Amino acid sequence: MKISVVGTGYVGLVTGACFSDAGHEVLCIDNDPKKIDLLHKGVMPIYEPGLDEIVARNVKAGRLKFSTSIAEGTAFAEVIFIAVGTPPGVGGEANMTYVEQVGRQVAEHMTSYRLLVEKSTVPAKTSEYLKRTVLKYLREDTDFDVASNPEFLREGTAIEDATHPDRIVVGVESQRAGDLLEEIYRPILKKGGGQFLRMSVTSAELTKHASNSFLAMKISYINAVARICELAGADVQQVAKGMGLDPRIGPRFLSAGVGYGGSCFPKDVDAFVRLADALGHDFKLLKEVQQINKTQREYVMKKIKQELWVVQDKTIAIFGLAFKPETDDVREAPSLYFVPKLQEMKAKLRAWDPVGEGKFKEIHPELECVQDLYECAKDADLVLILTEWDAVRKIDLKKLKEVMACPVIVDGRNIFNPEEIRALGFTYHSVGRN
Ligand SMILES: NC(=O)c1ccc[n+]([C@@H]2O[C@H](COP(=O)([O-])OP(=O)(O)OC[C@H]3O[C@@H](n4cnc5c(N)ncnc54)[C@H](O)[C@@H]3O)[C@@H](O)[C@H]2O)c1
Repeated sequence: MKISVVGTGYVGLVTGACFSDAGHEVLCIDNDPKKIDLLHKGVMPIYEPGLDEIVARNVKAGRLKFSTSIAEGTAFAEVIFIAVGTPPGVGGEANMTYVEQVGRQVAEHMTSYRLLVEKSTVPAKTSEYLKRTVLKYLREDTDFDVASNPEFLREGTAIEDATHPDRIVVGVESQRAGDLLEEIYRPILKKGGGQFLRMSVTSAELTKHASNSFLAMKISYINAVARICELAGADVQQVAKGMGLDPRIGPRFLSAGVGYGGSCFPKDVDAFVRLADALGHDFKLLKEVQQINKTQREYVMKKIKQELWVVQDKTIAIFGLAFKPETDDVREAPSLYFVPKLQEMKAKLRAWDPVGEGKFKEIHPELECVQDLYECAKDADLVLILTEWDAVRKIDLKKLKEVMACPVIVDGRNIFNPEEIRALGFTYHSVGRN
């Protein structure tokens, strides 16, 4: 089948590449000409493991093409996925500017039936607004559908997630729209497994916000438990293991640490709270989830301050800038809280991240970054771990101790065993463990 995907970011590019790998003919569109230029040259505009291979293979096979033109995308395929950003708006609600732009442009170029699919994370009822937009700007009297198909992939494992989904949620208003989407996903589901769930558009839209908010709630829950563990003298990792073996709870998303970040959880929880408010429901539970997450960073900062006493002129090595390992995405990453705060306190900062440096430096060009962990920690008074990269887990602790001015670690990801690391002579602070 022919498919257009508008928005060639973390979601759109992975989705387009995986659709083409499943045998479809795909045109990926972005209004950022730099991104499209890079893609034409075979260079990935984002870091996602395995993406370059899949893109190269399908470009070579002629199944995957790139363009900056929505007119071209509208003419190319009957089904158009919208995968543009929905960043937080001024008041925290999702900003629908880009989704609206795409709806309008597609409408202006439509001459026969088109199915517009919301792949971006959008608030419930977005489809109503999108339909209204299309109707306003349609130049020819033609049929169309709007469907919701929220994306559940995770950066860092996006290819695996997109090719082996646990579920494909599809919200449709017509048999035709549902059948088209089922046809698109058939080869992926046949190969990778997973359930195809048809539901109403509003239910599909809501499923995404409800899922992400639930996961964020799990993280905030364990972070709240971590604080109690410290007060009570318990170990949050042992508690989480004891909880997680209960299949009703499950072990995932029970890692205490510096709190959740990234381009999805903070903005999606916020958008869900705003949506609930707008519908007349005060979602207090989620407001508390947000509050715990916000104060979790402050909680870790307090440990740094207590340890250093005077922060000014201390050398702090930051291990990890990306919001999680295996991605270069720094949106809402904890590093964006710690770096400016520590700069305000006049600490001397040096950072290490294998792929996140470029995007972080677009925001903080002044930050000194190095590509070697030991060079980063050289003469440091404290190492602050913000991302659980494998290289950090595997660091040679004896060597690390030798290069530091003072062997102190504040571990925002609970990577090391407190007893073992203290036995090596480190002062070690983590989250939810004494
Ligand atoms: N990143 C994730 O892990 C993830 C997972 C699930 C869902 N989502 C959701 O998917 C959506 C996209 O997220 P992302 O991380 O891929 O964002 P992104 O910022 O990486 O990509 C969005 C792309 O859309 C392009 N764009 C914006 N307006 C456009 C327009 N009018 N025409 C053409 N292109 C346009 C931008 O240039 C950009 O390349 C968001 O709603 C997000 O919440 C993201």
